[in-house]
Amino acid sequence: MEAIEKVCAFLDEVKTYYLATVDGDQPRVRPFGTALVYGGRLYIQTGKVKDVSKQIAANPKVELCAFNGEKWLRLAGELVNDDDRAVKAAMLDKMPVLKNMYSPDDDNTQVLYFKNATATFWSFAAPPEMLTF
Ligand SMILES: Cc1cc2nc3c(=O)[nH]c(=O)nc-3n(C[C@H](O)[C@H](O)[C@H](O)COP(=O)(O)O)c2cc1C
Repeated sequence: MEAIEKVCAFLDEVKTYYLATVDGDQPRVRPFGTALVYGGRLYIQTGKVKDVSKQIAANPKVELCAFNGEKWLRLAGELVNDDDRAVKAAMLDKMPVLKNMYSPDDDNTQVLYFKNATATFWSFAAPPEMLTF
C-alpha cells in the first residue's frame, strides 16, 4: 500500500483524529473525521466559516494525531485549499452524513490537501515508521 493510502486507511479506521493548527502563538486542536485520497492527494474537509479554516489560511502548517488502541499516527504538513468541485463531491459521497450540512456548491464547503507531509506511526512495541508524501 502506498504511504498516502496507508495514512488514509488509518484515519478511516480510527474515525476521529485531532487536528492542530496555529493561531498566532496559540496552538488550537479539535476533533476531525474527514479523510479522502483523491488524485493521489490526501484531503480533509471543513467549513470556510470556521476558525480552523481561518487559522489554516493564515498559517497552513498543521499536525494531526490519531490512535487506534495500539499504534498512533502523527501527520505533519501544510494544507492547500482546493476549489475543485469534483473533490468536494467525492468527499461528501464518502461521508454522506456531511450532506446534512454541506454541498459541493455552497460557499462554505472547503477541501484541503496535504503538501510536504510527514507521517509517523508510533507504538510502544516497535521503532517509529516514517513516511512522506
Ligand atoms: C467526531 C468529530 C468529527 C469531526 N470532524 C470534523 C471534520 O472533519 N471537519 C470539520 O470541519 N469539523 C469536524 N468536526 C467539528 C469540529 O471539531 C468543530 O467544528 C470545531 O469547533 C472546529 O474547530 P474551530 O472551532 O477551531 O473552528 C468534528 C467533530 C467531531 C466531534
